[in-house]
Amino acid sequence: MTKQGDDLHLAIIMDGNGRWATARGLERLVGHKRGVERVDEIVEACPDLGVKHLTLFAFSTENWKRSEREVSGLMTLFRRYIRSESARLLKEGVRVRFIGRRHELDARLQELMQGLEDRTIDNDRLHLTVAINYGGRDEIVRATRKVALMVQSGELPIEDIDEHILSTALDTHELIDPDLVLRTSGEYRTSNFLPWQSVYAEYEFTETAWPDFTVEKLRDTLDAFRGRERRFGAVAIK
Ligand code: IPE
Ligand code: IPE
Ligand code: MG
Repeated sequence: MTKQGDDLHLAIIMDGNGRWATARGLERLVGHKRGVERVDEIVEACPDLGVKHLTLFAFSTENWKRSEREVSGLMTLFRRYIRSESARLLKEGVRVRFIGRRHELDARLQELMQGLEDRTIDNDRLHLTVAINYGGRDEIVRATRKVALMVQSGELPIEDIDEHILSTALDTHELIDPDLVLRTSGEYRTSNFLPWQSVYAEYEFTETAWPDFTVEKLRDTLDAFRGRERRFGAVAIK
């Protein structure tokens, strides 16, 4: 039952950028910039570490509660990241997708996101999904509305609603469920990240802040994960 192999889906709650910066007497946004640099390194390393799907939590539906300065700084960083990294992602065989309430993001960012999805659609070396303005409960509510519309239009009998139908209405409908969810920075909670998809995921929590999370640390995390036994409700095979 243990999943030892390749083609893993790793999902990361990239946390601790702000505290990393504050502890060094720097502005929180400096931490976010460092965080983006980490993304580059981790994305590049994933295929060789047996990770086929990488899903990153970049901005939650709750993160709008932060200062205007921090929110707009983050949005600028997202735009810059797409502009500067598109060519490299395309060349490295990375297919990029975005999940979340994208219609609430600024128009330029939405265009860049769409453009990057379109350009990388034929790539298959690594499937990178970035959750921006994403909340798991919000995703389930939106999926429920889609299913309700199908019922209302007579297209779907109510008794045919099952887990598969709900899954296909989620933003993640093209993805496999995460095998491992990692959260950095010593917080032991999931903060509304992939609740439906992670019911059988393994969890890892590290004290390391995201800007300090190196490829070496990722390698150790994956090694520890590969030693775990996953039973999915069945009984261990002796
Ligand atoms: C994670 O780092 C990035 C985002 C939520 C955008 P934080 O900004 O939450 O950093 P801390 O948790 O305040 O240190
Ligand atoms: C979760 O981190 C969201 C992202 C990493 C994008 P937060 O820092 O927003 O979560 P809480 O507030 O500590 O739960
Ligand atoms: Mg945080």
